[in-house]
Amino acid sequence: MPDTPASDGDVVTLLMRQHGDIRTLFDEVERASGDERRAAFRRLVRLLAVHETAEEEVLHPYARTAFAGGRDVVRDRLAEEKEAKELLSRLDDVDPDDPKFLPALAALRTEVTRHARAEERYEFPHVRRHTAPGRLTGMAAGVRAAEAMAPTRPHPGVESAAENMALGPLAALVDRTRDTVRKAMGKDG
Ligand SMILES: [Fe+2]
Ligand SMILES: [Fe+2]
Repeated sequence: MPDTPASDGDVVTLLMRQHGDIRTLFDEVERASGDERRAAFRRLVRLLAVHETAEEEVLHPYARTAFAGGRDVVRDRLAEEKEAKELLSRLDDVDPDDPKFLPALAALRTEVTRHARAEERYEFPHVRRHTAPGRLTGMAAGVRAAEAMAPTRPHPGVESAAENMALGPLAALVDRTRDTVRKAMGKDG
């Protein structure tokens, strides 16, 4: 992508930028209403699914052995991701115009924010400190390949397909993301 900043070549920088994109999308969903909120919510769901799946494929397995205490740090992060995914799939059944939607969204946001902060505090800095630049770039390629499946801005065509996505297709997106990441990193899995 011509507009990809050079700093995104580092997997930690790239994942932190995605944390920022996730925050922005939460803001958009909260501010919008009706179809606009629905569309922003679909983009948020996609980005969250793709981001967490890419971390689970690329970063967490590596972080386990990259630094002292990595195993415990990753175990805690995976537990948070599981919790967030459960909140996400519950929210996936609620129409964005339903009065239950905003409280459920707020609960998800709290969980996702807490999780992202924990990654930025206990995992990312250690990975960066203990990893050669070439390896950080290699991991970024996997995450970037996944990101192509989650547009953060409206794209005609993609939007209408994403609009109908319920829990089943969300699981399919996670599977597809896994395959894409593994291929990009030249791994059989
Ligand atoms: Fe995560
Ligand atoms: Fe993350």
